[in-house]
Order: sequence, then structure tokens, then C-alpha cells
Amino acid sequence: MAPSMLRSLVAVALLAASASAAALPGARASNASSTANATSMLPLSSDDSFSCELLRTVSLSRSYGADTGEVLQAAGGIVAGDLESFSGAFSALANHVYAEALAINKTQGPVTAREALFRASTYFRSADFYLHGNASDPRLVTLWANQTDAFNGAIALLQPNRGERVTLPSADGTFEIPCIYYRAAGANATHPRPTVILGNGYDGAQEEMLHATGFDALARGYNVITYEGPGQPTVRREQGLGFITAWETVVTPVVDYLETLPEVDAAKLGLFGYSMGGWLAVRAAAFEHRLAAVWAVDGLYSVFAPYYNALTPAVQSLYDAGNFSAFDAEVDAYLDSGLAPTETLWSLQQGVWSFAVSTVSEFLRKAEPMTLDGIAQQVQCPVWIGAPSGDIFFPDQPEQVRDALPAGLASYHYLTEADAAQNHCHVGAMAYVNGLVYDWFEDVLASQV
Ligand SMILES: *[C@@H]1O[C@H](CO)[C@@H](O)[C@H](O)[C@H]1NC(C)=O
Ligand SMILES: *[C@@H]1O[C@H](CO)[C@@H](O)[C@H](O)[C@H]1NC(C)=O
Ligand SMILES: *[C@@H]1O[C@H](CO)[C@@H](O)[C@H](O)[C@H]1NC(C)=O
Ligand SMILES: *[C@@H]1O[C@H](CO)[C@@H](O)[C@H](O)[C@H]1NC(C)=O
Ligand SMILES: *[C@@H]1O[C@H](CO)[C@@H](O)[C@H](O)[C@H]1NC(C)=O
Ligand SMILES: *[C@@H]1O[C@H](CO)[C@@H](O)[C@H](O)[C@H]1NC(C)=O
Ligand SMILES: *[C@@H]1O[C@H](CO)[C@@H](O)[C@H](O)[C@H]1NC(C)=O
Repeated sequence: MAPSMLRSLVAVALLAASASAAALPGARASNASSTANATSMLPLSSDDSFSCELLRTVSLSRSYGADTGEVLQAAGGIVAGDLESFSGAFSALANHVYAEALAINKTQGPVTAREALFRASTYFRSADFYLHGNASDPRLVTLWANQTDAFNGAIALLQPNRGERVTLPSADGTFEIPCIYYRAAGANATHPRPTVILGNGYDGAQEEMLHATGFDALARGYNVITYEGPGQPTVRREQGLGFITAWETVVTPVVDYLETLPEVDAAKLGLFGYSMGGWLAVRAAAFEHRLAAVWAVDGLYSVFAPYYNALTPAVQSLYDAGNFSAFDAEVDAYLDSGLAPTETLWSLQQGVWSFAVSTVSEFLRKAEPMTLDGIAQQVQCPVWIGAPSGDIFFPDQPEQVRDALPAGLASYHYLTEADAAQNHCHVGAMAYVNGLVYDWFEDVLASQV
């Protein structure tokens, strides 16, 4: 294994959570003019990937998805680079909080039980996160069953309207789209409301979206629907399907469904794409023209490019030559060497799992058509594009989305350390970012004719 490949694979894309500039030597944010007085965010682990995932989990505390001390307590028992220790710490926490929640639900009021169920659900997801290197690990099933049960218990206790699961057929009839619908308080046929459609990305669940941005949308009086398509946690598990390029086959049935609901103002639909969902949402909007607005949090032009660009020229040439057996041998030897940083290991294992393939080269080949090249011009609604200053893994991607859209449709937001919003997906700064996002939505809706 060439040392240059070791170095360059370190840069393999991060799609799950933030990149702490401090945690990666030499990876300071590049836009010096806007970050002249930047300070680094305190890392939560010496393992960069664990630090990002811990921040992602603890960040849900403001919206009922976690509690700070519980996450930091679990973090204290995690050993850098030890994926099993990460899973074990969250598994123990999840079971503890879940047992407590079920007991509380028998004796106490619904608010206490609901909050504990939401937290347990999050911790089951965190326990699952690093286990995808072995698709037949039984914990992928059991942890997910628990996260789903806990979440269903929680949304049944939401007030004034419980969250409801809905399953829709895909536009081409080849798969099912699991959704959860949350009606805004006071929304009805005489007072229909704007509605946001929330989709996660490469690794996150629709359940996470309620905490990341859904509660902030409900607080503003919008109805909320979350959904998952092929490659995403529940569809991947229950239907065995990996990511697909034609994401409009997932989004269009959701729009069709919303149009049947009397409390939904169908002229005021927004589609929110989180992480790699930023690509999925803009792709869908190129074909689904009933959307009033789209958010790419963050902007991603090509799903393939960041991975490919992180490879050494020698490994790239094996891929270019179609010598996939040699390519996979090189990559697998590196991953098996024990030298790969957690982020590299995780991101490639997640690619293989979420695209439902067995090799990294197959994953890359499936990701290759996932580009906005040639289709961005078909988008017809305004697009909010997030560009985090510390997201070193996707250089230039948000700017490419901005520049490819039809004139006047891109609303580009370069967010920095000044607002603690430098991380991928702006993890940890969602009070601020959801404010930007939904205030912009109000402006877009106000300008509708
Ligand atoms: C750097 O930041 C400024 C101010 O926020 C912004 O206008 C500019 O587009 C950024 N440049 C790049 C290369 O991202
Ligand atoms: C950075 O911010 C601190 C606190 O606001 C301020 O005292 C200091 O002068 C700033 N430094 C620079 C170089 O702007
Ligand atoms: C989680 O799932 C496992 C396997 O189904 C089960 O044994 C366990 O009881 C569940 N945990 C809780 C707290 O229900
Ligand atoms: C994957 O997990 C299964 C079930 O625990 C186990 O039998 C198998 O050996 C594991 N495979 C690898 C490559 O670790
Ligand atoms: C919580 O209690 C309610 C009322 O008894 C019950 O209907 C519901 O199934 C319980 N939820 C869970 C997750 O146990
Ligand atoms: C519909 O909602 C509005 C505003 O929330 C409320 O004033 C009205 O009473 C509701 N109408 C019905 C029929 O529930
Ligand atoms: C693929 O690459 C390997 C390693 O460089 C080489 O030995 C082999 O001949 C190549 N196969 C083809 C078909 O080019």
C-alpha cells in the first residue's frame, strides 16, 4: 500500500456528520476572510468520526432527541477507533432509557414517557451507526426494531396531534415509501398550512429528521412529513434496496399524498434534503415541479466526485480502466490494514451497505450517475443551498449546485464558525440554521403570486 494512498484515503468523504476542522490537521476552513477569528469547536473524542457522531447525537438535545449528560456519559466509555465500544456504550444507554420509558409510561404522564422514548430511539440509532461493515450482523435488525418501536411509542404520545405512519407505493410501483406525517396544531381544511417534506441522506433515518428540523417546522405552524427511499435505513433493511438515482420516484408519491390532505396547502410545499439528501432533493425537484421551495443542507452536485477525488491517481486509474478486481483488492487491503481512520472505514462500509452491493467499486459505479450535471436547469423553484465553511470533504460542491441552477433560483448561504455553523449539515447549530431556513421559506411563500 503506497503511503500516498494512505494519506489520500483519509480524505474520503464524510456524509454523516460534521468535520471538525481542529480534529483534522491541516484541514482548517479555507475561507480565511470570513473566519479570521475562528476558534475550533471542542472535539468530543480524539477519534474525528466519533467526535462528529457524538456531536450529531448530543445536538438533538434541544429538540427532545437526546439529553446532554446521557450522551457525554456514554461518550466517556467509548474508546477511539473501537467501533464496538461506540455501539456498546449507546446500546447500554438505549436499553436503560427505554426500560425507564416503558416503566414511566405505566405510571406517569405522557410527556415524560414520550421524551424518554424519543431519547431511547436516538440512542438505538447511535448504537447501530458503526455496525454496517457486516450486513448480516443481527444487531442491524434488533437495534432497528427497538429504535422503531421506541419512536412509534413516542409519536403516539405527541400532542395535540400524534405522528402517523403512512406507507406509499413508489411512482414506478417497485418499492414502498415509509413516511411519518405530523399535522400542525390548528391545521384544518379551512386553515390549510404550508408543509415541509423532510428527507435524510447517506446514513440517517427519517426519525432523526423530526429532531433535526421537524419540530422547528411544526413550531412555525407547518405540517411535516418525513420519508425514506431506497438505501435509507428502513427501506434498505426491509426491502433490501440500495440507493437509486431517480429520486423523484420517491418524492412524487409523497407530493401526491399531501395533495389529498385537506389541511395541506398544496401550493406551499417545501422539500428539505439533509446531508446527501441535499443531492436527492435537488435531483427530485428537477422532475417534480409542484414544490414551492427546496433546501439542500448542504449543497451536493455529485455524490461520486468527493469519493473519487479522494483516491490516489494510481487507484483512480484502476477504476478508470475498469480493473475493478485490482481496485477492490487495493481498497480492501487498506481497510483491512487497521490503518484506515474510522471515518474512511465507516464511509466506505456505509457505501457498500446503503447501495446494497458487495464491493467499493460497485458502490462507486452506482454513485457515478448521481450528479446534477445536465438536469439542474430543469429545477423550477427557489433552492436554499447551505455551504459550511468547515466541510472540507465536499470542496466546491455547494458552489457547483448554485452555479448550475437556472438564474435567480439559488439562495446560497456560506455559514461559518462565527455562528458555530461550520460543520457538515451545520450539526450543532440547527436553532440558528432552521431559523434561516424557515424565515427564507416565509419570504418565498410571500412572493408567490
Ligand atoms: C468566502 O466568504 C465570503 C463571505 O461570507 C463569501 O461571500 C464567499 O463566497 C466565500 N468564498 C468562497 C470561496 O467560499
Ligand atoms: C477575536 O475575538 C475576540 C473576542 O471577541 C476579540 O477580543 C479579538 O480581538 C478578536 N481577534 C481578532 C484577531 O479579530
Ligand atoms: C431490543 O431488541 C432486542 C431484540 O429484539 C430485545 O431482546 C430487547 O428486549 C429490546 N430492548 C428493549 C429495551 O426492549
Ligand atoms: C457477520 O456477522 C455474522 C453474524 O454475527 C457472523 O456469523 C459473520 O462471521 C460475520 N462476518 C464477518 C466477516 O465478520
Ligand atoms: C404507553 O401507555 C399507553 C397508555 O396506557 C399505551 O397505549 C401505549 O401503548 C404505551 N406505549 C408504550 C411504548 O408502551
Ligand atoms: C380550523 O383552524 C382554525 C385555526 O386553527 C380554527 O380557528 C378553526 O376553528 C378550525 N376549524 C375547524 C372546523 O376545526
Ligand atoms: C488489473 O490490475 C492489476 C494490478 O495492477 C494487473 O496485474 C492486471 O493485469 C490488471 N488487469 C487488467 C485486465 O488489466
